[in-house]
Amino acid sequence: MLKLEDINKTYNIGTVNEAKLFADFNLTIEQGDFISVIGSNGSGKTTMLNIICGSLAIDSGRLLSNGNDISRLKEFQRAKFMGRVYQHPDMGTCPSMTILQNMALADNKGKLFGLTMGVNKKRIDFYREELSRLKLGLEDKLEVKVGSLSGGQRQAMALLMSTMTPLEYLILDEHTAALDPKTSEIIMALTDEIVREKQLTTIMVTHNLRHAAEYGNRLLMMHEGQVIMDKKGQQKTETKVDELLDIFNSISVECGN
Ligand SMILES: Nc1ncnc2c1ncn2[C@@H]1O[C@H](COP(=O)(O)OP(=O)(O)OP(=O)(O)O)[C@@H](O)[C@H]1O
Ligand SMILES: [Mg+2]
Repeated sequence: MLKLEDINKTYNIGTVNEAKLFADFNLTIEQGDFISVIGSNGSGKTTMLNIICGSLAIDSGRLLSNGNDISRLKEFQRAKFMGRVYQHPDMGTCPSMTILQNMALADNKGKLFGLTMGVNKKRIDFYREELSRLKLGLEDKLEVKVGSLSGGQRQAMALLMSTMTPLEYLILDEHTAALDPKTSEIIMALTDEIVREKQLTTIMVTHNLRHAAEYGNRLLMMHEGQVIMDKKGQQKTETKVDELLDIFNSISVECGN
């Protein structure tokens, strides 16, 4: 279980650009939740993920993982139990290294001297097996540089790599946004498969309302640093894309757009 407790975050404190985004923000994520997060640009989705992953410091408040205060853990320390996939495939893979080297790198995440250990030959079969589930033929291209793959192929690898070591949380920030419609569907199906298989507690930010409605067991809508809609279980299942669009439209009317 992940708990965000009374989180406060103001950008550019003490400057003319000072902007309070989160004021006593609270959110409880149950173990095994697969949460889709939607919301207009600038509503605070990425900031919330950055706060969870430790890539952005909070002004006050606490983050609890299964009752343990993780607020002071650095990003690399949280990476031991949190995997993250970003919007851009380059963020999750190393383009100048081969597929094999990338897999080995992910496999050794968090281990001492992981970067210098090189590729353990015994693991190669395992990497091939993992890659073959992507159905992209990458298992036969182990020596190919990742930079020469397509965005979709790289994002599939990023997803595989981020979930290779045992994890509790998977954090996805618009991870299908840069992909063509067909590839985006493939990556979403793969995401769902991995989340179920590894029983990951997942937070997925997306602008794809259909994905948000279709996947996961809980749906959050954010607006100006607040959760303005929270649907779970049956309520979530019954939520239609049109309904979400209507809420978006009513918000922009309120904002005068
Ligand atoms: N590093 C920063 N410095 C100052 N303000 C920031 C910074 N990062 C984000 N903000 C501001 O915080 C607000 C929330 O931004 P955030 O990136 O979390 O939104 P988002 O919901 O992820 O939007 P999008 O859908 O466009 O990705 C915005 O008003 C943004 O301008
Ligand atoms: Mg964002």
